[in-house]
Amino acid sequence: MDGSATKSVCCGRPPWRKGATRRREDEINGKQADMQFEGKKGLVLGVANDHSIAWAIAQRIMDAGGECGFTHLPDREDDERKRNRRRVAQLTDKYENAKFLVPMDAQKDEDIARVMEQAAETFGKIDFLLHSIAFADRNDLARETVYTSRDGFKLAMDVSVYTLLACTAAAKPILNPGGAIATMTYFGGEKCVPGYNVMGICKAALEAAVRYLAYDMGPHQVRVNALSAGPIRTLAGRAAGVEDMLTLYEHMAPLGRNISHDEVGRTGAFLLSDDSNGITGEILHVDGGYNAMGSPGRLLDHIKKQQ
Ligand SMILES: NC(=O)c1ccc[n+]([C@@H]2O[C@H](COP(=O)([O-])OP(=O)(O)OC[C@H]3O[C@@H](n4cnc5c(N)ncnc54)[C@H](O)[C@@H]3O)[C@@H](O)[C@H]2O)c1
Repeated sequence: MDGSATKSVCCGRPPWRKGATRRREDEINGKQADMQFEGKKGLVLGVANDHSIAWAIAQRIMDAGGECGFTHLPDREDDERKRNRRRVAQLTDKYENAKFLVPMDAQKDEDIARVMEQAAETFGKIDFLLHSIAFADRNDLARETVYTSRDGFKLAMDVSVYTLLACTAAAKPILNPGGAIATMTYFGGEKCVPGYNVMGICKAALEAAVRYLAYDMGPHQVRVNALSAGPIRTLAGRAAGVEDMLTLYEHMAPLGRNISHDEVGRTGAFLLSDDSNGITGEILHVDGGYNAMGSPGRLLDHIKKQQ
């Protein structure tokens, strides 16, 4: 393992709970954080920055006592500032429970294997795996789906779908029975959401993959689920047209608002915790109920008011 890849963690850093957003919330609410992840260890794949959904979920897990190993997208050799790594390290360095941070390009099997080796070395076995990875070329996202390029289709499917299979297979030998895998999806995989385009096809495939993987991993007592999140402002979200969706959800979702990072964080952690032990092969929506609507609902009232 490249020395620069291993996290220079812990020593001299503030205790993990001090930097925790959730801790601050708990102090305000006068509550103690639930320690349901005490003794649990796992991998968090897909933190890019503090807006990432994976970070919201990881924070919940670490606040509840879990230990995490993180990956970041490898930096380009000519990027002397190592920006990808630095953005994630700025977050993980605040948490004693963040045990390592290593580069991983999920399109490379050797990178995935190295991450699993690092996890085995640090943790022995793991209890959870969060896959929060997706990518499509902007040009393909911007095109009508019918004109998606062949290379763009392969790239989007490889990063956004195949990597779940590859990471699950690679993690299988070190996953404890009772363990859980979760991935992130979006409603555009169930219904046509114009603008989501090729990524909608990827999410449909990802959701099918969740069901097949749940079947394969079932005998090992490992669960596989997906969280279908409403729009959230993140790097990937912006690229996939989240801004327009935020307004739409506010008017159409039964809750009449968008969801927060914290809400996705809690439900993501739930899917990776023992609290969801009987659930596998499930697509769980955290979208204010948007997916339940069969008509624009109160959005019509809004439009009428403006006429
Ligand atoms: N933001 C939303 O509105 C929203 C809604 C529903 C689902 N999702 C899904 O949530 C997941 C996380 O996205 P996010 O919104 O937190 O954005 P994000 O940009 O913070 O996370 C996407 C992550 O994918 C990683 N990634 C891309 N290509 C990779 C590769 N080759 N190897 C390894 N990692 C790679 C990026 O480094 C990044 O960390 C994605 O699957 C996304 O489709 C997002």
